[in-house]
Amino acid sequence: MSIIAPSILSADFAHLQRDADMVVAAGAEYLHIDVMDGVFVPNITLGPCVIRSLRPSSKAVFDVHLMIIEPERYIHEFIKAGADIITIQVESTRDVDGCIDMIREAGVKPCVTLRPGTPVEELEPYLERVDMALVMTVEPGFGGQSFMPEMLRKVEWLDRYRKERGLPFLIEVDGGVGLKNAAQIVKAGADVLVAGSAVFGADDPAAVIRLLKNS
Ligand code: DX5
Ligand code: ZN
Repeated sequence: MSIIAPSILSADFAHLQRDADMVVAAGAEYLHIDVMDGVFVPNITLGPCVIRSLRPSSKAVFDVHLMIIEPERYIHEFIKAGADIITIQVESTRDVDGCIDMIREAGVKPCVTLRPGTPVEELEPYLERVDMALVMTVEPGFGGQSFMPEMLRKVEWLDRYRKERGLPFLIEVDGGVGLKNAAQIVKAGADVLVAGSAVFGADDPAAVIRLLKNS
């Protein structure tokens, strides 16, 4: 069974707690929280205050995806607000190692990711030190985009890499994931499926989560 991480970017922000509770009740283990600064990506979403507000009422794993430049300036704020996993875009900082250390030392799980155009090998220096590696299957910035099937090669590469070296990191896939492609993504080696519009845009989000889990 896959771990499902609904992206709250596609939730109703006027009823964020209701939507977050609904996906967890339906069996989602993670809440995927997309943080965008309008600089690293051409969109602005939310900051630590929203995470802090959701935290007391949610037992979900808060999977915080930072699409901001120089994330080292804000990592501590996101940790204080209640993040359980923090994902760093390798293109967003000169000090990915320092970011991983900051996250790890606070008892939070570090994850690294890259834009679709960045070669997967650029994750290699960090794979022994992270709990998860995220493969972006759309250009970061917006929900509701089309899945890029050619990114599955990166998932396969990571799965082979961890098997050959006995590394325990999970593989997460983010962008355009839905019922049509979930089985193929899991087959390539993914453990965690992020799904925004496929879940929150569905008539029956709970049914979609159940089907995704079993794909
Ligand atoms: C894109 C975000 C994704 C996005 C996924 O920058 O990182 O998490 O919200 O949304 P869907 O599932 O609609 O592609
Ligand atoms: Zn994301």
